[in-house]
Amino acid sequence: MLQNLKPNFCFLPLIISVQCLLVIVFGIDHYNRGDFPPGFVFGAGTSAYQVEGAAFEDGRTPSIWDTFAHAGFSGGANGDIACDLYHKYKNDVQLMVDIGLEAYRFSISWSRLIPGGTGPVNPKGLQFYNNYIDELISHGIQPHVTLFHSDLPQALEDEYGGWLSRKIVKDFTAYAEVCFKEFGDRVMYWTTINEANVYAIGGYDNGFTPPGRCSPPFGVNCSRGNSSTEPYMAVHNMLLAHSSAMKLYRRNYKSTQHGFVGFNIYSMWCVPYTNASADVIAAQRANEFFIGWIMNPFIFGDYPSIMKKAAGKRIPTFTKYEAKLVKGSVDFIGLNHYTTVSVKGRPSSIEKHSKDFNADMEADFSLAVLAADQYPVIPSGLYELLEYLKEAYGNLPIYIQENGQKSLRNGTLNDMPRIEYLHAYIGSILDAVRNGSNTRGYFVWSFLDGLELLGGYVPSYGLYYVDLDDKELRRYPKHSAYWYANFLKGKSSRNDAIFQAADKLPIYKS
Ligand SMILES: *[C@@H]1O[C@H](CO)[C@@H](O)[C@H](O)[C@H]1NC(C)=O
Ligand SMILES: *[C@@H]1O[C@H](CO)[C@@H](O)[C@H](O)[C@H]1NC(C)=O
Ligand SMILES: *[C@@H]1O[C@H](CO)[C@@H](O)[C@H](O)[C@H]1NC(C)=O
Ligand SMILES: *[C@@H]1O[C@H](CO)[C@@H](O)[C@H](O)[C@H]1NC(C)=O
Ligand SMILES: *[C@@H]1O[C@H](CO)[C@@H](O)[C@H](O)[C@H]1NC(C)=O
Repeated sequence: MLQNLKPNFCFLPLIISVQCLLVIVFGIDHYNRGDFPPGFVFGAGTSAYQVEGAAFEDGRTPSIWDTFAHAGFSGGANGDIACDLYHKYKNDVQLMVDIGLEAYRFSISWSRLIPGGTGPVNPKGLQFYNNYIDELISHGIQPHVTLFHSDLPQALEDEYGGWLSRKIVKDFTAYAEVCFKEFGDRVMYWTTINEANVYAIGGYDNGFTPPGRCSPPFGVNCSRGNSSTEPYMAVHNMLLAHSSAMKLYRRNYKSTQHGFVGFNIYSMWCVPYTNASADVIAAQRANEFFIGWIMNPFIFGDYPSIMKKAAGKRIPTFTKYEAKLVKGSVDFIGLNHYTTVSVKGRPSSIEKHSKDFNADMEADFSLAVLAADQYPVIPSGLYELLEYLKEAYGNLPIYIQENGQKSLRNGTLNDMPRIEYLHAYIGSILDAVRNGSNTRGYFVWSFLDGLELLGGYVPSYGLYYVDLDDKELRRYPKHSAYWYANFLKGKSSRNDAIFQAADKLPIYKS
């Protein structure tokens, strides 16, 4: 979700020195599908606004992402049509079958299902998601559904400020209930909220992502918001909304539907820039700020003490009741992981009066690696992240819900760097699983080249290329789709036909 941040948009101060993260070849090179434990699922994912299109059709109302995109912030692009999956879902499920996906991760557009954000259900939205889910199930593909993926109904943002208000807890729970009630007979895996930590930082600290709020001197074009307080408020309300939906699920649906409810964290792995103790401490702080912000409340019922100390009154306090509600309220954690970044210590005295999340963290890291055309391939970082979660938080079940390599969308289908990346990262997960990590599934980001939050249609992550110049928006498998298909069919990950003779595969445009 942080893809393609322009260096001058970096929400954290850039360090001056050039990053020198090496491409580390890590772990096992040859493995196959059968090496993973029984029950481990492989899939790919998308989210509603990024692929559905049909933004004004059949009763859907705008979300804050529509508003943000139409204001020119998604690289000048928008999701009005996107991949038109709304009309092409049958075709797309067939493409999933062609690859052999075992599971598919997608999100529901809240404002398609409940156009007012609260109130009556839209029968056409309901019909669409029922059809989509049925199509997956009838082809043996397990649906993994996210309820909120950056696309809050604009109506709720306008009415009470969306995630900044406690009112969201009730409305989100009511929306979740519609989903559990209508789809829970077929959907077993629910993720309530995607990338809550980055949603809060992007949306309320630097203002780069919807709803685009911030206050000076943080972020860009800050005309409304409060970077010192709002990110903490937004995460707090997300944790409460999630927990409330979970409580409802456990009370009314769990015993008949037998499903699982989890929460998603954007998790880059932070390593020290040098072995100097200031950098080592900064990397630990950065991991606690990014991951502990969410994990500590779920596991221990409170924010990390280091965050509470740094943010003081600006971070909300859990009441006894809330702490009890939040603690233990996840069946699994979803991780979106793309790469590892290195971190430098930063003294705290600056910005004493008005601090934001980053100043509280007392760590600087370069986001240049996130802005580059491709991510540095550091699979050892994912391994270390999984080890960290196992050791620090009691080895909760984990799904890698997003992982994939970025490339420029320029029509080439020969995406060897993506194959190398997927091969390396899936191998590091196998290493972690063999050392006891409770990781249960893996989803390539993304199934189709869709609209990216930052950068629009310029960066691409898809296993399938979508030809935006073609009125039919035809899809073409990239080489990575063949590689993944072969892997899922049980061939070696070092599938020589793909690795060594990629140029023999069909090529559409290159
Ligand atoms: C900030 O506002 C200025 C003036 O309105 C505009 O030209 C510029 O594109 C905006 N930048 C961003 C990142 O929104
Ligand atoms: C942000 O909120 C805090 C706490 O209410 C307040 O002290 C500070 O002045 C606010 N900052 C802005 C920019 O409004
Ligand atoms: C830190 O020290 C370890 C071993 O002591 C070494 O392997 C590693 O490369 C060092 N890291 C940096 C960034 O210097
Ligand atoms: C397309 O982009 C990739 C990198 O993402 C590059 O290797 C390739 O040369 C580019 N192809 C064209 C035709 O520009
Ligand atoms: C494997 O797991 C054990 C137990 O959690 C841990 O102590 C050890 O450091 C791990 N090994 C590696 C290589 O990560």
